[in-house]
Formats: sequence, C-alpha cells, structure tokens
Amino acid sequence: MPDSWESFLADCDACRRCPLGSTRRNAVVCRGAWKAPLMFIGEGPGAEEDARGKPFVGQAGRLLDLLLEAQGFPESAYHIGNVVKCRPPENRVPTEEEAAACRPLLARQILLVRPKVVVLLGATAHRYITGSKEPISKVRGQWTEKNGYHMLPTFHPAYILRNDRDRIVLWKDLLSVRAKLEELGFAAPLPDPAAMPSGRG
Ligand code: URA
Repeated sequence: MPDSWESFLADCDACRRCPLGSTRRNAVVCRGAWKAPLMFIGEGPGAEEDARGKPFVGQAGRLLDLLLEAQGFPESAYHIGNVVKCRPPENRVPTEEEAAACRPLLARQILLVRPKVVVLLGATAHRYITGSKEPISKVRGQWTEKNGYHMLPTFHPAYILRNDRDRIVLWKDLLSVRAKLEELGFAAPLPDPAAMPSGRG
C-alpha cells in the first residue's frame, strides 16, 4: 500500500526508536509544502521547534525564511525537515545512533515529498546524509546527484548568525539552488529589476 502523510505523521508521533522520543515535547516533522521540488534538511529541533512542533521557527529559521523570500521562494515552494525529529537535550548534536534510528522516517519523508533538489543545512545534515566527514566549509556549494535528486550542502543558518561574514556564501549557494531549479524547469526566472517598467511616465 502506498505511504500517506497521515500514516507517516502518526508514525512520527508514536516513534520511540531512540531515547529522544521520551524527552521531547513534540515530534518536529516538517513545514512548507507537502510535495515540493525543493527540500531542506537541517540537524534537529531546538527549544522553539520542540515547543511549536515545526522545524526552523527560531532565530535560524527566521534568517532562512528571509533569505528564501528574497530569492522569490514562498513557503509553499519548499519543504523543510531535519535529520532527527525530536529535540536532543541542551541542543546537542544528535548522536549517530539517534540519526540512524530516525533515518527510516526521513527516507519515507523524502519519498513523500519527491524533491528534485535537496539542500543539506550544515555539517551534521551533510555527515549523516552522505556519510562524509569532510568539513562543511570544504564541501559546501558542490552539487552531487543521488537517487534522482540533486544535492547541495551549505552552511547552517545558525552558523551564519554567529559568522555574519559568511552570509554572502549562504546567499550564493541559494542563488545556485535557484539556478538549478530553473535549469530543471521547476522555477521560473525572477524578473530582471533593471528591465521592469518604472510605472511612471
Ligand atoms: N536547527 C535545525 O537544524 N533544525 C531546526 O529545526 C531548527 C534549528
């Protein structure tokens, strides 16, 4: 029987495959579109996400939303999830065991979303999704192709909040995401502001 969002979300809520399931307030699964050509994968929920049951709704999420809006992506154009769906206590990095326990749920989520482009936000998402321990500063901005989708690692917005000089790098990577979606026919080019009529005689 094909998977459905209903049964998937119920399984996320009921999941106790790792100890995080008993310390979290909410399973934090996703926000944005149910099905989208663009998917972001972060590390794991923080305090605000745990309280509200949605990923990237804290400070880092607000920065991500700002950058995406400036790139012409409304929330309905993408899907956001995380490597783990339950908050690690004190916001520590999820362990390998926790990420592995959550992996089947993330695999189901990706199948339901059917993205064409997957953006890995930060070193943890990159490590657990690709198995590579290369520093994110070395691999960011480099496209790879896997299981029919194009994947791009980039800096985590929380890192950018602490290292503002790298904001331009995240911005450039998101430009590259936009260009990839345009190339694949999943986004229309943004109007060139220089070519827009001023509206005044
Ligand atoms: N950081 C993440 O990686 N994910 C969230 O949902 C929030 C902050």
